[in-house]
Amino acid sequence: DHRSDALPLISERIDAVTGGLRMRRLRQADWTRRLVRETTLGADDLIWPIFVREGDGEAEPVPSMPGVFRLSVEGCVDAARQARDLGIPVIALFPYTDPTKRDETGSEALNEGNLVCRASRAIKSAVREVGILCDVALDPYTSHGHDGVMQGDRILNDESVDMLCRQAVVQAQSGCDIIGPSDMMDGRVACIRGALDSAGLRDTLIMAYSAKYASAFYGPFRDAVGSGAMLRGDKRTYQMDYGNSEEALREAAQDIAEGADMIMVKPGMPYLDIVSRLSRELGVPTFAYQTSGEYSMIMAAAQNGWLDGEKAMLESLGGFKRAGAAGILSYFSPRVAAHLKTR
Ligand code: PBG
Repeated sequence: DHRSDALPLISERIDAVTGGLRMRRLRQADWTRRLVRETTLGADDLIWPIFVREGDGEAEPVPSMPGVFRLSVEGCVDAARQARDLGIPVIALFPYTDPTKRDETGSEALNEGNLVCRASRAIKSAVREVGILCDVALDPYTSHGHDGVMQGDRILNDESVDMLCRQAVVQAQSGCDIIGPSDMMDGRVACIRGALDSAGLRDTLIMAYSAKYASAFYGPFRDAVGSGAMLRGDKRTYQMDYGNSEEALREAAQDIAEGADMIMVKPGMPYLDIVSRLSRELGVPTFAYQTSGEYSMIMAAAQNGWLDGEKAMLESLGGFKRAGAAGILSYFSPRVAAHLKTR
Protein backbone atom coordinates (compact mmCIF):
# COMPACT_ATOMS: atom_id res chain seq x y z
CA ASP A 1 0.00 0.00 0.00
CA HIS A 2 1.38 3.41 -0.97
CA ARG A 3 -0.63 5.12 1.76
CA SER A 4 0.82 5.95 5.16
CA ASP A 5 -0.94 6.70 8.42
CA ALA A 6 -0.28 10.38 7.83
CA LEU A 7 -2.72 10.54 4.92
CA PRO A 8 -5.79 11.84 6.82
CA LEU A 9 -3.62 14.55 8.33
CA ILE A 10 -2.25 15.47 4.90
CA SER A 11 -5.74 15.76 3.45
CA GLU A 12 -6.79 17.93 6.35
CA ARG A 13 -3.77 20.15 5.91
CA ILE A 14 -4.36 20.49 2.17
CA ASP A 15 -7.97 21.50 2.76
CA ALA A 16 -6.79 23.98 5.38
CA VAL A 17 -4.30 25.71 3.05
CA THR A 18 -6.48 25.61 -0.05
CA GLY A 19 -9.70 26.45 1.76
CA GLY A 20 -11.11 23.47 -0.09
CA LEU A 21 -10.34 25.00 -3.47
CA ARG A 22 -8.64 22.30 -5.45
CA MET A 23 -7.31 23.76 -8.68
CA ARG A 24 -7.09 20.37 -10.35
CA ARG A 25 -10.90 20.12 -10.48
CA LEU A 26 -10.83 22.37 -13.55
CA ARG A 27 -8.20 20.20 -15.25
CA GLN A 28 -9.88 16.84 -14.78
CA ALA A 29 -11.18 16.32 -18.32
CA ASP A 30 -10.77 17.62 -21.81
CA TRP A 31 -14.16 19.35 -21.58
CA THR A 32 -13.33 21.18 -18.35
CA ARG A 33 -10.02 22.30 -19.79
CA ARG A 34 -11.67 23.56 -22.94
CA LEU A 35 -14.41 25.27 -20.94
CA VAL A 36 -12.05 27.48 -18.92
CA ARG A 37 -9.25 27.98 -21.45
CA GLU A 38 -8.31 31.67 -21.43
CA THR A 39 -6.76 31.94 -24.87
CA THR A 40 -6.93 29.86 -28.02
CA LEU A 41 -5.06 29.81 -31.28
CA GLY A 42 -6.96 30.04 -34.55
CA ALA A 43 -6.10 30.32 -38.23
CA ASP A 44 -7.13 33.99 -37.98
CA ASP A 45 -4.09 34.61 -35.79
CA LEU A 46 -1.59 33.57 -38.43
CA ILE A 47 0.59 35.34 -40.95
CA TRP A 48 2.54 33.02 -43.24
CA PRO A 49 5.99 34.17 -44.45
CA ILE A 50 6.90 32.86 -47.90
CA PHE A 51 10.14 33.02 -49.89
CA VAL A 52 9.94 33.82 -53.58
CA ARG A 53 12.57 33.18 -56.23
CA GLU A 54 13.14 33.65 -59.97
CA GLY A 55 12.15 31.10 -62.57
CA ASP A 56 9.22 28.75 -62.79
CA GLY A 57 10.87 25.59 -61.59
CA GLU A 58 10.18 23.34 -58.63
CA ALA A 59 10.08 24.60 -55.07
CA GLU A 60 13.64 24.81 -53.76
CA PRO A 61 14.26 23.65 -50.18
CA VAL A 62 15.94 26.05 -47.74
CA PRO A 63 18.58 23.79 -46.16
CA SER A 64 18.54 25.43 -42.72
CA MET A 65 14.72 25.47 -42.58
CA PRO A 66 13.35 21.93 -43.01
CA GLY A 67 9.91 22.05 -44.64
CA VAL A 68 10.38 25.60 -45.99
CA PHE A 69 10.91 26.28 -49.69
CA ARG A 70 11.69 29.11 -52.05
CA LEU A 71 8.77 29.29 -54.46
CA SER A 72 8.38 30.58 -57.99
CA VAL A 73 5.90 33.42 -58.52
CA GLU A 74 3.34 30.84 -59.64
CA GLY A 75 4.18 28.79 -56.54
CA CYS A 76 3.40 31.86 -54.42
CA VAL A 77 0.00 32.15 -56.05
CA ASP A 78 -0.63 28.49 -55.13
CA ALA A 79 0.50 29.24 -51.58
CA ALA A 80 -1.94 32.15 -51.44
CA ARG A 81 -4.76 29.83 -52.55
CA GLN A 82 -3.69 27.40 -49.86
CA ALA A 83 -3.71 30.23 -47.28
CA ARG A 84 -7.22 31.22 -48.37
CA ASP A 85 -8.47 27.63 -48.11
CA LEU A 86 -6.90 27.25 -44.67
CA GLY A 87 -8.33 30.55 -43.42
CA ILE A 88 -4.94 32.25 -43.00
CA PRO A 89 -5.62 36.00 -43.43
CA VAL A 90 -2.20 37.23 -44.57
CA ILE A 91 0.92 35.99 -46.33
CA ALA A 92 4.26 37.80 -46.11
CA LEU A 93 6.58 37.84 -49.13
CA PHE A 94 10.38 37.74 -48.97
CA PRO A 95 12.56 37.62 -52.09
CA TYR A 96 15.67 35.58 -52.80
CA THR A 97 17.44 38.09 -55.04
CA ASP A 98 20.08 36.97 -57.47
CA PRO A 99 23.52 38.32 -56.41
CA THR A 100 23.89 39.99 -59.83
CA LYS A 101 20.90 42.23 -58.99
CA ARG A 102 22.35 43.40 -55.70
CA ASP A 103 24.26 46.64 -55.36
CA GLU A 104 25.53 49.09 -52.72
CA THR A 105 22.26 51.05 -52.48
CA GLY A 106 19.78 48.20 -53.01
CA SER A 107 18.35 49.83 -56.14
CA GLU A 108 16.50 46.64 -57.13
CA ALA A 109 14.14 47.45 -54.22
CA LEU A 110 12.71 50.26 -56.35
CA ASN A 111 12.16 48.14 -59.44
CA GLU A 112 8.46 47.53 -59.95
CA GLY A 113 9.49 44.44 -61.91
CA ASN A 114 11.31 42.92 -58.92
CA LEU A 115 10.29 39.55 -57.54
CA VAL A 116 8.17 40.77 -54.65
CA CYS A 117 6.25 43.20 -56.87
CA ARG A 118 5.62 40.57 -59.53
CA ALA A 119 4.50 38.05 -56.92
CA SER A 120 2.19 40.65 -55.32
CA ARG A 121 0.54 41.47 -58.64
CA ALA A 122 0.14 37.78 -59.51
CA ILE A 123 -1.40 36.98 -56.12
CA LYS A 124 -3.71 40.01 -56.18
CA SER A 125 -5.11 39.11 -59.55
CA ALA A 126 -5.71 35.46 -58.60
CA VAL A 127 -6.58 35.46 -54.89
CA ARG A 128 -8.46 38.48 -53.60
CA GLU A 129 -9.24 37.16 -50.13
CA VAL A 130 -5.72 37.05 -48.75
CA GLY A 131 -3.78 40.09 -47.55
CA ILE A 132 -0.19 40.62 -48.62
CA LEU A 133 2.49 41.89 -46.24
CA CYS A 134 5.85 43.05 -47.61
CA ASP A 135 8.97 43.94 -45.68
CA VAL A 136 10.41 47.37 -46.22
CA ALA A 137 14.17 47.07 -45.82
CA LEU A 138 17.03 46.92 -48.29
CA ASP A 139 18.81 43.76 -47.14
CA PRO A 140 17.50 41.43 -49.87
CA TYR A 141 18.86 43.89 -52.43
CA THR A 142 22.16 45.23 -51.05
CA SER A 143 25.56 43.74 -51.83
CA HIS A 144 26.55 44.21 -48.15
CA GLY A 145 23.41 42.63 -46.68
CA HIS A 146 22.40 45.64 -44.59
CA ASP A 147 18.88 47.05 -44.34
CA GLY A 148 19.95 50.54 -45.29
CA VAL A 149 22.39 52.56 -47.37
CA MET A 150 25.99 52.12 -46.29
CA GLN A 151 28.84 54.61 -46.26
CA GLY A 152 32.15 53.19 -45.08
CA ASP A 153 31.05 51.05 -42.17
CA ARG A 154 28.05 53.25 -41.26
CA ILE A 155 24.39 52.82 -42.15
CA LEU A 156 23.02 56.23 -43.10
CA ASN A 157 19.64 56.90 -41.52
CA ASP A 158 17.99 59.61 -43.62
CA GLU A 159 19.36 58.42 -46.95
CA SER A 160 18.02 54.95 -46.10
CA VAL A 161 14.58 56.34 -45.21
CA ASP A 162 14.48 58.10 -48.57
CA MET A 163 14.99 54.73 -50.32
CA LEU A 164 12.53 52.95 -48.00
CA CYS A 165 9.75 55.43 -48.75
CA ARG A 166 10.10 54.79 -52.46
CA GLN A 167 10.32 51.03 -51.90
CA ALA A 168 7.09 51.16 -49.87
CA VAL A 169 5.22 53.07 -52.60
CA VAL A 170 6.41 50.70 -55.35
CA GLN A 171 5.32 47.70 -53.29
CA ALA A 172 1.94 49.15 -52.39
CA GLN A 173 1.31 50.07 -56.04
CA SER A 174 2.05 46.44 -56.94
CA GLY A 175 -0.67 45.16 -54.62
CA CYS A 176 0.96 44.90 -51.21
CA ASP A 177 -1.70 45.63 -48.55
CA ILE A 178 0.49 45.91 -45.48
CA ILE A 179 3.87 47.61 -45.45
CA GLY A 180 6.19 46.18 -42.80
CA PRO A 181 9.16 48.47 -42.16
CA SER A 182 11.74 46.08 -40.71
CA ASP A 183 14.74 48.34 -41.16
CA MET A 184 14.76 50.09 -37.73
CA MET A 185 15.77 53.47 -39.15
CA ASP A 186 14.57 56.47 -37.12
CA GLY A 187 11.52 58.32 -38.39
CA ARG A 188 10.74 55.89 -41.17
CA VAL A 189 7.13 55.21 -40.24
CA ALA A 190 6.12 58.87 -40.51
CA CYS A 191 7.98 59.30 -43.79
CA ILE A 192 6.55 56.10 -45.28
CA ARG A 193 3.02 57.09 -44.19
CA GLY A 194 3.53 60.46 -45.84
CA ALA A 195 4.87 58.92 -49.03
CA LEU A 196 1.98 56.45 -49.25
CA ASP A 197 -0.60 59.17 -48.65
CA SER A 198 0.98 61.46 -51.25
CA ALA A 199 0.75 58.60 -53.75
CA GLY A 200 -2.96 58.21 -52.96
CA LEU A 201 -2.39 54.98 -51.03
CA ARG A 202 -4.30 55.93 -47.87
CA ASP A 203 -5.69 52.42 -47.32
CA THR A 204 -2.30 50.75 -47.27
CA LEU A 205 -1.63 49.55 -43.73
CA ILE A 206 1.62 49.82 -41.80
CA MET A 207 2.74 47.07 -39.47
CA ALA A 208 5.91 48.46 -37.92
CA TYR A 209 8.63 46.13 -36.78
CA SER A 210 8.83 48.35 -33.70
CA ALA A 211 10.84 46.27 -31.29
CA LYS A 212 13.22 44.43 -33.56
CA TYR A 213 16.27 43.15 -31.76
CA ALA A 214 19.74 42.40 -33.14
CA SER A 215 19.42 38.64 -32.94
CA ALA A 216 21.11 35.35 -33.69
CA PHE A 217 17.69 33.90 -34.49
CA TYR A 218 17.60 35.44 -37.99
CA GLY A 219 20.36 33.15 -39.27
CA PRO A 220 18.29 30.72 -41.36
CA PHE A 221 16.23 33.59 -42.84
CA ARG A 222 19.40 35.24 -44.09
CA ASP A 223 20.30 31.96 -45.78
CA ALA A 224 16.83 31.79 -47.30
CA VAL A 225 17.04 35.28 -48.84
CA GLY A 226 20.72 34.87 -49.69
CA SER A 227 22.03 37.77 -47.60
CA GLY A 228 23.71 35.78 -44.83
CA ALA A 229 27.04 35.20 -46.52
CA MET A 230 27.17 38.81 -47.72
CA LEU A 231 26.48 40.52 -44.43
CA ARG A 232 29.31 42.89 -43.59
CA GLY A 233 29.57 43.20 -39.81
CA ASP A 234 26.34 43.10 -37.81
CA LYS A 235 23.14 45.12 -37.38
CA ARG A 236 23.63 46.37 -33.84
CA THR A 237 23.77 50.05 -34.78
CA TYR A 238 20.10 49.96 -35.81
CA GLN A 239 18.45 46.83 -34.39
CA MET A 240 17.82 46.86 -30.63
CA ASP A 241 19.99 45.58 -27.81
CA TYR A 242 18.38 42.53 -26.24
CA GLY A 243 19.02 43.83 -22.73
CA ASN A 244 16.38 46.51 -23.19
CA SER A 245 12.66 46.65 -22.45
CA GLU A 246 12.00 50.35 -21.68
CA GLU A 247 13.46 51.16 -25.06
CA ALA A 248 10.98 48.81 -26.75
CA LEU A 249 8.16 50.79 -25.19
CA ARG A 250 9.63 54.06 -26.48
CA GLU A 251 10.25 52.63 -29.97
CA ALA A 252 6.69 51.32 -30.23
CA ALA A 253 5.08 54.48 -28.81
CA GLN A 254 7.09 56.48 -31.34
CA ASP A 255 5.99 54.27 -34.25
CA ILE A 256 2.36 54.61 -33.18
CA ALA A 257 2.71 58.39 -32.95
CA GLU A 258 4.19 58.33 -36.46
CA GLY A 259 1.18 56.48 -37.84
CA ALA A 260 1.74 52.73 -37.45
CA ASP A 261 -1.56 50.80 -37.54
CA MET A 262 -0.02 47.75 -35.95
CA ILE A 263 3.24 47.01 -34.20
CA MET A 264 5.45 43.94 -34.06
CA VAL A 265 7.99 42.36 -31.74
CA LYS A 266 10.79 40.26 -33.17
CA PRO A 267 12.11 37.66 -32.45
CA GLY A 268 9.23 36.02 -30.63
CA MET A 269 9.82 33.30 -28.09
CA PRO A 270 12.73 34.89 -26.20
CA TYR A 271 10.80 38.21 -26.17
CA LEU A 272 7.35 37.28 -24.83
CA ASP A 273 7.84 39.77 -22.00
CA ILE A 274 8.07 42.51 -24.62
CA VAL A 275 4.97 41.22 -26.46
CA SER A 276 3.08 41.21 -23.18
CA ARG A 277 4.25 44.65 -22.16
CA LEU A 278 3.62 46.40 -25.45
CA SER A 279 0.22 44.82 -26.07
CA ARG A 280 -1.02 45.70 -22.58
CA GLU A 281 0.51 49.14 -22.21
CA LEU A 282 -0.12 50.48 -25.69
CA GLY A 283 -3.40 48.86 -26.68
CA VAL A 284 -2.46 48.69 -30.36
CA PRO A 285 -2.68 45.36 -32.24
CA THR A 286 0.68 43.80 -31.40
CA PHE A 287 2.15 41.01 -33.48
CA ALA A 288 5.06 38.70 -32.82
CA TYR A 289 7.44 37.16 -35.34
CA GLN A 290 8.40 33.59 -34.57
CA THR A 291 11.63 33.86 -36.52
CA SER A 292 13.45 31.42 -38.74
CA GLY A 293 15.84 30.42 -35.93
CA GLU A 294 12.95 29.62 -33.61
CA TYR A 295 11.29 27.53 -36.32
CA SER A 296 14.48 25.67 -37.16
CA MET A 297 15.24 25.03 -33.49
CA ILE A 298 11.94 23.21 -33.02
CA MET A 299 12.24 21.38 -36.35
CA ALA A 300 15.79 20.23 -35.63
CA ALA A 301 14.85 18.87 -32.21
CA ALA A 302 11.79 17.17 -33.67
CA GLN A 303 13.83 15.58 -36.46
CA ASN A 304 16.21 14.20 -33.85
CA GLY A 305 13.29 12.74 -31.94
CA TRP A 306 14.10 14.98 -28.98
CA LEU A 307 10.64 16.45 -28.72
CA ASP A 308 7.22 16.12 -30.29
CA GLY A 309 7.37 18.69 -33.09
CA GLU A 310 3.61 19.02 -33.53
CA LYS A 311 3.01 19.65 -29.84
CA ALA A 312 5.97 22.02 -29.51
CA MET A 313 4.67 23.97 -32.52
CA LEU A 314 1.20 24.39 -31.00
CA GLU A 315 2.52 25.21 -27.55
CA SER A 316 4.98 27.79 -28.86
CA LEU A 317 2.25 29.55 -30.82
CA GLY A 318 -0.20 29.33 -27.94
CA GLY A 319 2.35 31.13 -25.80
CA PHE A 320 2.18 34.16 -28.09
CA LYS A 321 -1.59 34.38 -27.68
CA ARG A 322 -1.32 34.08 -23.91
CA ALA A 323 1.29 36.87 -23.91
CA GLY A 324 -1.24 39.13 -25.65
CA ALA A 325 -0.27 38.91 -29.31
CA ALA A 326 -2.99 39.79 -31.82
CA GLY A 327 -1.30 37.42 -34.25
CA ILE A 328 1.91 35.64 -35.12
CA LEU A 329 4.13 35.50 -38.16
CA SER A 330 5.21 31.88 -38.30
CA TYR A 331 6.67 29.45 -40.80
CA PHE A 332 4.45 26.85 -39.13
CA SER A 333 1.32 28.71 -40.31
CA PRO A 334 0.08 26.30 -43.00
CA ARG A 335 0.80 23.28 -40.83
CA VAL A 336 -0.93 24.75 -37.78
CA ALA A 337 -3.91 25.93 -39.78
CA ALA A 338 -4.28 22.47 -41.34
CA HIS A 339 -4.05 20.91 -37.90
CA LEU A 340 -6.67 23.29 -36.46
CA LYS A 341 -8.98 22.54 -39.35
CA THR A 342 -8.98 18.78 -38.89
CA ARG A 343 -9.34 18.92 -35.12
C1 PBG B 1 15.08 41.95 -42.93
C2 PBG B 1 14.41 40.91 -42.14
C3 PBG B 1 14.99 39.92 -41.35
C4 PBG B 1 13.95 39.10 -40.92
C5 PBG B 1 12.77 39.63 -41.43
N1 PBG B 1 13.07 40.75 -42.16
C6 PBG B 1 16.41 39.62 -41.06
C7 PBG B 1 17.28 40.66 -40.52
O1 PBG B 1 16.86 41.69 -40.01
O2 PBG B 1 18.50 40.44 -40.61
C8 PBG B 1 14.11 37.86 -40.09
C9 PBG B 1 13.01 36.88 -40.18
C10 PBG B 1 13.32 35.53 -39.65
O3 PBG B 1 14.40 35.27 -39.09
O4 PBG B 1 12.46 34.66 -39.79
N2 PBG B 1 15.21 43.19 -42.38
